[in-house]
Amino acid sequence: MDRIRIIGGKRLEGTIPISGAKNAALPLMIASLLTRETLTLKNVPRLADVTQLSRILGNHGVDITVAGKRAGQSTSDGQTVKLTAEEIVDTTAPYAMVARMRASFWVLAPLLARCGEAKVSLPGGCAIGTRPVDLHLAALKSLGAEIDLEGGYVIARAPKGLTGNKIVLPKVSVGATHNTLMAAVLARGETIIDNAAREPEVADLATCLVEMGARIDGIGTSTLRIEGVPSLHGAEHTVLPDRIETGTYAMAAAITGGEVFLEGARADLLQEALQLLRDTGIEVEESASGIKVSRNGGGLQAVSVETQPFPGFPTDLQAQLMALMCMAKGTSQVRETIFENRFMHVQELARLGARIELKGDTALVTGVNDLRGAQVMATDLRASVSLIIAGLAAQGETLIGRVYHLDRGFERIEEKLGRCGAHIERISG
Ligand code: EPZ
Repeated sequence: MDRIRIIGGKRLEGTIPISGAKNAALPLMIASLLTRETLTLKNVPRLADVTQLSRILGNHGVDITVAGKRAGQSTSDGQTVKLTAEEIVDTTAPYAMVARMRASFWVLAPLLARCGEAKVSLPGGCAIGTRPVDLHLAALKSLGAEIDLEGGYVIARAPKGLTGNKIVLPKVSVGATHNTLMAAVLARGETIIDNAAREPEVADLATCLVEMGARIDGIGTSTLRIEGVPSLHGAEHTVLPDRIETGTYAMAAAITGGEVFLEGARADLLQEALQLLRDTGIEVEESASGIKVSRNGGGLQAVSVETQPFPGFPTDLQAQLMALMCMAKGTSQVRETIFENRFMHVQELARLGARIELKGDTALVTGVNDLRGAQVMATDLRASVSLIIAGLAAQGETLIGRVYHLDRGFERIEEKLGRCGAHIERISG
């Protein structure tokens, strides 16, 4: 199993290109199931999750081609992926595939909407909480689907098609919004999704669906109105930049007291997080071409934050912020309100010398002057990158095991950080 080795203490300086967003690319790829025609996605990140989802979609009959390199392109440009689901040959998404990636559960709605049936294994994914799918199933039932649970599979049927309805999601859920949206675009009549997730990745999916011929109003708001259409067509869509990767590298630069330009990052996608970074004493300059983050000599101040659905502070940046706060002056309070078990990085950060006390859903992080390198273990995607952030600042060597978690969501991380001066390498085997 690969490990990442970091010798901490190097100041980051330079430019980091921001990749396409994993959490937008995955539902966009799944949307290809909704049409016989080709969906072309540009700026798709090179990630293990994208490869895994390609396998799952291939099993349903989607032909997927990745365009080769073009003149003038560098390795930091995203890939162009063409997905064509001319015929759905299999409406079952098996356990062995879905258990490895939660987002693959979202094939349920498009398969059901297009084929009138789907059998999809209950999902797996990062172990950050129980992560039920009750909201997804209730929404599909409201659209007229019959749902049975059998042997760990969701079996959904709508032989006469789905019918629009008013759905109030009792809790903000990105995945349930994706699934409901993809079902509603091909349902008969109007669907209203109230309390829809407003995450930019949901808006990106909705925008792409409109480009494919769907009729959706209220994109980016918590009320989505969808007028079903009989079929969708092909389209070309560019995946939006990854706001979580952006925030992660901003914090990596800050913990080393460095100065980094995050090329292609969009500040409007993470206003709350950028404001919080400013509150800690980091300079953040927004421009049309990216975001510059610097901490030249200044100290870091403790902050208090709780994770919230968009536009609030994202749970997917909670572990990284905690790593940063390990070296701030004072005690920070970090409250996790989205997932009940998303503090697994705490004991690993403690191995590097962090002082963190857990009180229920809140972590109290008291800054220390120095972190010290150690052997640590990645436990989930965002937890593993928090260990990288801490390792960049720690004295001596940090060895991070189980980095396959990292490969799911961060494209060429050692290369991106290495180019800015980090002493970081992958040890294979
Ligand atoms: C998406 O997961 C993201 N995954 C997560 O990113 C992200 O942390 C999360 O949204 C919140 O922003 C992808 O986009 C692939 P939810 P999702 O449904 O859709 C509860 C990462 O690291 N809930 O918005 O699975 C749920 O338990 C990943 O990239 C129900 O109770 O999250 C949670 O408490 C990790 N019943 C809350 O809602 C349901 O049926 C929000 O979850 C569905 C969700």
